[in-house]
Amino acid sequence: MTDRIRWGILGTGNIAGQFARDLKVARHAELAAVASRSRENAEAFAGEHGARNAYAGYETLAADPDIDAVYVATPHVCHKRDTLMCLANGKHVLCEKPIAINAAETEEMIQAARSADRFLMEAMWMCFFPSIQKTQELIRNGEIGDVRMLRADFAFQANLEPGGRLLDPALGGGALLDIGIYPIALAQLVFGKTPQTITSLMHAGETGVDLQSGLVMQYDTGACAVLSCSLETSMPHEAIIAGTNGTIRIPSEFYHADTIIVSRNGEDTTLSFDRRGIGYYREAEETGRCIREGKHESQVVPHNLSRAVMHTMDHIRGQWGLRYPGEA
Ligand SMILES: NC(=O)c1ccc[n+]([C@@H]2O[C@H](COP(=O)([O-])OP(=O)(O)OC[C@H]3O[C@@H](n4cnc5c(N)ncnc54)[C@H](OP(=O)(O)O)[C@@H]3O)[C@@H](O)[C@H]2O)c1
Repeated sequence: MTDRIRWGILGTGNIAGQFARDLKVARHAELAAVASRSRENAEAFAGEHGARNAYAGYETLAADPDIDAVYVATPHVCHKRDTLMCLANGKHVLCEKPIAINAAETEEMIQAARSADRFLMEAMWMCFFPSIQKTQELIRNGEIGDVRMLRADFAFQANLEPGGRLLDPALGGGALLDIGIYPIALAQLVFGKTPQTITSLMHAGETGVDLQSGLVMQYDTGACAVLSCSLETSMPHEAIIAGTNGTIRIPSEFYHADTIIVSRNGEDTTLSFDRRGIGYYREAEETGRCIREGKHESQVVPHNLSRAVMHTMDHIRGQWGLRYPGEA
């Protein structure tokens, strides 16, 4: 293997295209191949994004010896199947969020990566933004005192076409797994632990999946996270972290913001950060760095972060009685 990671992409949908665009600005990375369920889509994607090979069928890409890492960009319910197939073929894997539909699947994937001696990371792109990393650093250094409250919302009026991924239970549809995961992951980063108590209310659509929900999570210290997610309406995607000595506001959209506003003693300080592409290049570069260093996981999105977030989402779905087909 050279320093340059030869990437393969599974799936040709929305996020696969955005990732392929960002691979062009990622260091030590090239798009070697794309695979689709249809030859036509694979060839169109390869033509648009400059992939050397276009495969009809994901298995063919997984078996290609000239690929180092695979980016899994299929619907949530396919993540486990696609990741296990790539690992079994000796590939390192960057898998879209949510890494799986529940904690049991997540554990199976992590163990498979360990057994195969391969790198695995959930593509939680938010964690790579300097705005988020600076926020973590300020909290760690006690700059806003003891964090007592987090407020974060992710609500947008989605195109809820019948049969689409977001409404289909068979594809792991619903707001929680698709977008609620961002405020939940932020809460995990801010508090560094899973909540002790969760109270949640959800509104389901005709297909039974959650269209929106409100979540209140309390930690053993009494600190609180008040979160929401909705596919039915739009709100600013802001996050506010409030401590005993100040606040950090991450403006909309908090999961890919380029600024944060730190308020202390009645004074606001705005910190601004640069980016090269959309923001997905960072997870590609981190995957490459970890692979070159022989690491199985990244400290930016460690396996324990994926585990904790999936456990929290399992707990919330348990409260709602929302199970996906085939789940125990
Ligand atoms: N990180 C982010 O910012 C971000 C943003 C959006 C989505 N995501 C995540 O990325 C994943 C894909 O989301 P997306 O918005 O890109 O979805 P999408 O536009 O619907 O694309 C999904 C692709 O998966 C493939 N696929 C395989 N089996 C499928 C099936 N049974 N039904 C439908 N498609 C199937 C299809 O590609 P082929 O037909 O070519 O095989 C399809 O184009 C989700 O897990 C989502 O949560 C992440």
